[in-house]
Amino acid sequence: MSLSQSQLQLAGVPRTMILTTRARADEDRRSNGLFRDRHAREWSNRLPWDEDLASFYGKSEQAGWAIRADHYDRAAQRHIAMSQHPLVVELGAGLSSRYHRLQQDNLSWINLDLPEVNAIRTQLDRETANYQFIGASALEWEWMDLLPPRPPEEIMFIAEGLLMYFEPEMVVELIARMRERFPGSTFMFDIVSVSYRRGAKKLAALGAPLHWFVKDLDEVTRMGVELVEAHSLFQLHPERWGMWRLLTWLPFVRTMTSILETKLKP
Ligand SMILES: C[S@@+](CC[C@H](N)C(=O)[O-])C[C@H]1O[C@@H](n2cnc3c(N)ncnc32)[C@H](O)[C@@H]1O
Repeated sequence: MSLSQSQLQLAGVPRTMILTTRARADEDRRSNGLFRDRHAREWSNRLPWDEDLASFYGKSEQAGWAIRADHYDRAAQRHIAMSQHPLVVELGAGLSSRYHRLQQDNLSWINLDLPEVNAIRTQLDRETANYQFIGASALEWEWMDLLPPRPPEEIMFIAEGLLMYFEPEMVVELIARMRERFPGSTFMFDIVSVSYRRGAKKLAALGAPLHWFVKDLDEVTRMGVELVEAHSLFQLHPERWGMWRLLTWLPFVRTMTSILETKLKP
């Protein structure tokens, strides 16, 4: 059964997860898609499409969100393969169906998002002993007390499409708090640079303004993370980017949006 607009009640940043969910569903529909995802397809079918989002959703946006999801999947897969009892925590999970794409017996997983998004997830998805949902802000620190105990090297935090919506001081504080509680664990997130201002203007019109624009990677490492890997989104799967592929020799395009894998420094 479809969820109605009134059941959705999404405004501002939470509304953007309708776009990324649809991108994964459409990736599943591609014969040569980067991944299969029947959950995204099923959930996306049940979310009423929001016409105001149409101008944010074209071929390159779909490709970008699918490529980003796939890149996080691969890193999470590596983390899971290296750990005995891996724990993955997705902050600002939206309707991420990554757990279902990567599921295996020894894996524990937490999806955290704001209460209104979590309420939607609970109508579509089901918790188990190893797979739990938290309806809370990542910027209210109580969630840190709710994680099952694990040595830091077994924990991977994912913030896909999240931190750019936070004020820079809040990103600094989030990282400081995470370092204090989970030093040595992996934290993977994506960033946008100042050259992404045009996209940011459109998002602001939707009520989802971006606040954290990264000048350079030193700005990130100064917050107390060790950089393990950094990839420009436009340089992943170049065959999917059309004209953007040609533009990535321009540094301001290449650095517009990147995905970073880091370790939280003790
Ligand atoms: C662009 S969506 C990305 C969703 C998901 N990570 C994905 O890639 O499909 C941003 C998500 O961040 C969530 N969000 C915004 N502010 C948050 C906060 N303070 N704490 C937790 N989640 C938040 C929104 O509700 C939304 O689901």
